[in-house]
Amino acid sequence: MILVTGATGSIGTHLVRLFQEKGVAFKALVRDEGKARALGCDVVVGDFDDPGSLVPAMEGVDRLFLNAGGAQPVDGEQPMVRQQKAAIDAARAAGVSRVVKVSVSGAHRGGRLAQGAHWEIEEYLKASGLGWSMLRPGGFMQNFVTGTAGFTADGKLLDVYGGAPVSYIDCHDIAACAAALLTGSGGLGETYELTGPQALTCAEIAQELSAALGRTVEHAELSPDELAAGLRAQGLPARFADDLAELSRQVASGSMAATTTAVRDLTRREPRTFGEFLAANAEALRAG
Ligand SMILES: NC(=O)c1ccc[n+]([C@@H]2O[C@H](COP(=O)([O-])OP(=O)(O)OC[C@H]3O[C@@H](n4cnc5c(N)ncnc54)[C@H](OP(=O)(O)O)[C@@H]3O)[C@@H](O)[C@H]2O)c1
Repeated sequence: MILVTGATGSIGTHLVRLFQEKGVAFKALVRDEGKARALGCDVVVGDFDDPGSLVPAMEGVDRLFLNAGGAQPVDGEQPMVRQQKAAIDAARAAGVSRVVKVSVSGAHRGGRLAQGAHWEIEEYLKASGLGWSMLRPGGFMQNFVTGTAGFTADGKLLDVYGGAPVSYIDCHDIAACAAALLTGSGGLGETYELTGPQALTCAEIAQELSAALGRTVEHAELSPDELAAGLRAQGLPARFADDLAELSRQVASGSMAATTTAVRDLTRREPRTFGEFLAANAEALRAG
């Protein structure tokens, strides 16, 4: 039996759908049964913030898809680290044999925000004795639909990467890679850097959005210093604002421009282009 965590999220909803299409036996760990009803699958209630709920939720589970929310610090702590370590402890106690974890591109010791948090969890998982595979995706195409990518008040797409290209990936492809690892025997002890098929600049993304929406989407540059000042003005902690500014400097220097063949290697098909992603999400895009 496979347990899918983060099942209501951007990656998890695709993974649930893929398993349903393929008739794979799985259940989803959810915090809110009512919210999860739309998934149309077996669920078990559990919360990463309640370690006592996790071991019973993993009873009879052989493989775990480990994923949850982002890495915004709360009172200087990264809740994700504590939460995912608790899930790994529960998996070991429940006799899970293998964990497929969603991490982040460029995870490293001492990295800012998600890069440091995911690295710490990766190391904990590697030391746990459980079988593991790491998926390290870059920026999600979904960010342009969910609002995670910033827009100005008058609807301009914010370029916080100084015109540098980013090889955005569709969460559909991340889920397909996870499905291959959760249902197959390959990839044990492997780390996969996942990207889309091409790196796009903000100007190119704005052009694609314009074509999909049938109206002009403009873009506006925001320097890392302006980004940090804006976040501080919104009341966000200075450290968080500075970390985000530093990450945007790194991306501006080309740190997320490379593409890999990992999606093709794992799924035997090409990852979706940004245009294909927009076509598959036309309804959500127009509603957003
Ligand atoms: N956005 C990007 O560009 C990007 C790039 C690379 C890596 N990542 C990584 O991707 C991950 C986010 O994936 P995603 O976008 O699929 O997530 P998401 O859409 O933000 O969804 C988060 C999921 O985690 C669940 N969750 C949150 N807190 C939980 C808790 N305490 N206990 C149990 N479940 C909980 C949520 O359930 P509810 O429905 O109950 O809220 C939801 O299903 C993060 O680790 C992030 O660092 C993101």
